[in-house]
This record gives sequence, structure tokens and C-alpha cells, in this order.
Amino acid sequence: MKAAFYEDFGEPDVLRIGELPDPELRDGGVLIDVRAASVIPGDYRLRSGELKHLFPVTFPKVPGRDGAGVVRAVANGVTSVKPGDAVCFVSVHTEQGTCAELICRPEKDVVPMPPGMSFGEGAALMHAGVCAWICLEAGKVGQGTRLLVHGGGGAIGGAALQIARHMGAQVTTTCNSRNRDHCQTLGADHVVAYDVEDFAATDERYDVVIDLIGGDVHRRSYEVLKPGGKLVYLLAKHIEDLSAQYGVETILGPIREEREIHDIVVKMAVDGVLRPQISEIMPIGKIGEAHHKLATGQVSRGRIVIDVAGADRFPEPA
Ligand SMILES: NC(=O)c1ccc[n+]([C@@H]2O[C@H](COP(=O)([O-])OP(=O)(O)OC[C@H]3O[C@@H](n4cnc5c(N)ncnc54)[C@H](OP(=O)(O)O)[C@@H]3O)[C@@H](O)[C@H]2O)c1
Repeated sequence: MKAAFYEDFGEPDVLRIGELPDPELRDGGVLIDVRAASVIPGDYRLRSGELKHLFPVTFPKVPGRDGAGVVRAVANGVTSVKPGDAVCFVSVHTEQGTCAELICRPEKDVVPMPPGMSFGEGAALMHAGVCAWICLEAGKVGQGTRLLVHGGGGAIGGAALQIARHMGAQVTTTCNSRNRDHCQTLGADHVVAYDVEDFAATDERYDVVIDLIGGDVHRRSYEVLKPGGKLVYLLAKHIEDLSAQYGVETILGPIREEREIHDIVVKMAVDGVLRPQISEIMPIGKIGEAHHKLATGQVSRGRIVIDVAGADRFPEPA
């Protein structure tokens, strides 16, 4: 099969395109012809070696956590999908990634593609949706929650805005001023453009802050939380836990891949609550450029999607 892969950690130029052996259909697995894969921050962090102590990998390593494609074969006992079905799926950092023509994933990591969704959208759906939903659930966000989402211009932040609006929260978000309209369209009631305004210069006090940025943004988020509020964060820039000083709860979003959560994310997409956001579609030969763009903050409004099948345009799912 054709695949993107690297044989050592390093800069984006360690990424190559070449032939690797086809994966086999494993017990309980689904063999998928991959059409599209997306690039997430964890992909370039893993490739650079930054995450090697957390996620041991074997070389050659195929990058990619998210994908979409068509089922080629299923193992005995697999019932939720069948050959010919259009599907979305996730992989994990320690196994073969999604940026290859073929992949085998356990049934729990493969879900039917929501009707009307393109393969590119399917490849952008799962990781962002799963992370956003887990963070909102960890914050117990619901009707009337006063919520601040940092990074609404990104893939997870954009998904969080859509889901939070559906949950009935009062949503404020931070983003670049270029993305003000984008975030309002996704569900933000109020937008603070971080390049021209200070999110902490307000009398507003939030029940929950979702922090996808870290560092100084995380530190200053304590100032805008109500006593007893929740600061839910994902691993980004280094954070200092000041929960005891401010009388709030600091929670690391417990990201995990579970069938139940995958089904919730797909249902939200089917119901029109969640629409995956695509920043750009690039051919597989530009995977190194995609990693570079993401690592240098040049990606906004959703995922870069890699056209793995090599078509100019993704064929729509049947
Ligand atoms: N297990 C975990 O802990 C875990 C899991 C998943 C993701 N993460 C981390 O979560 C973060 C977000 O992931 P993602 O996939 O959503 O990334 P992404 O799509 O690259 O989005 C990041 C967004 O951050 C925004 N941003 C940058 N500086 C900002 C600031 N000062 N204030 C507000 N927004 C700012 C940018 O929006 P603009 O375009 O508007 O500037 C950018 O689009 C990444 O750091 C990722 O590594 C951690």
C-alpha cells in the first residue's frame, strides 16, 4: 500500500511517501480502504519526538489519528459495519496511523459515516468531536452554563462551540479577530478577539472555562471563574495548577477512545448538531507541509485533511 511514514523522529522532512506492506484483517477488526485522513497537533508532536516517552512507536510510523474510507472486509463477529460501507474511524498514536491506503481498526473505533458527509468531513469529525464532548462533559456543561471556550477558531474549540450551543450554554469564546464571524456561526454568543482584546478584562464570571491553549491563557483563566467553577484543559502549553488559590476545580480532559463516545459524536453529526470543520485539503505528497503549517500556527478554522486516495476531489460516500 501507499503510505506516508517516518523512520526516525525529527523535522517534517523525515516524512516520506512510499510502499509499506498491507495490514492484515485482525480478529474483531475492520479492514478499510482509506480515502481521507486529517492532521491533528498530536501527529506533529509525535513525529518531532516530543511525545515519545508517552507513546512508544515502532518505525516505520504512519502518522494520523482520524480517517474516513470504505470498508473492504470485516472479521467474523463484526456486525456494526459491512464491506462497502462508508465509515469514519480513529487510530491511536502507538499503532499504524490513518495516512495510508489501508488500515485495520478494531470494530469499536469504526463508525458509519453520517449521511451526506464527504470523506474529507468524515476524516475531520471524530477526534475533534470526541475531545470537545469529553471536555464539556467533564465540566458538566448544560442549560444556562456560563462557559468560556479558549481557541474557538481551532478544530476542538469549533466543535465545542457547536455542542455547547446545543446543550443550551451561554458561550463566550476567544479567537483571532479574523475568526470572529466563524465562531459566531458555530455557536458563540460572545467573541473575544485575543489579538485586540483581553479576555480577563471583564466583570463576567464563568461557571466553566475550557482551555485548549495553556500557558498564560490558563493562568489568567482562574481570574474569570466563579468560586467553585471548573477549569477543564487539554495538554498544550505548560500549565500551573492554581485551583487551591482560587477555590476552583482544575480538570485535565480525560481523552479516551470508547465506542459509546464515538456513537455520541456520530449521532450529533447525524442530528445536525456538529459539522466538522475543514481548513484545507492537501494531497498526501504534501503531508510534511501540512505538519509544518500546523506546528507553526498557520492552520485555522478546522483540520487540514489529507487526500489519501489521490483524487482531486473526494468521491462522495454511497
Ligand atoms: N489529550 C490531550 O490533552 C489533548 C488531546 C487533543 C488535543 N490537545 C491539544 O489541544 C490543543 C487544541 O487542539 P486542536 O486540535 O483544536 O488544535 P487546532 O485545530 O490547531 O486549534 C488551535 C487553535 O488555537 C487558537 N489559538 C492560538 N492562540 C490562541 C490564544 N492565545 N487564544 C485563543 N485561541 C488561540 C488558534 O485559533 P485562531 O486561528 O483563532 O488563532 C488555533 O486555531 C492543541 O494544543 C492540542 O495539542 C490535547
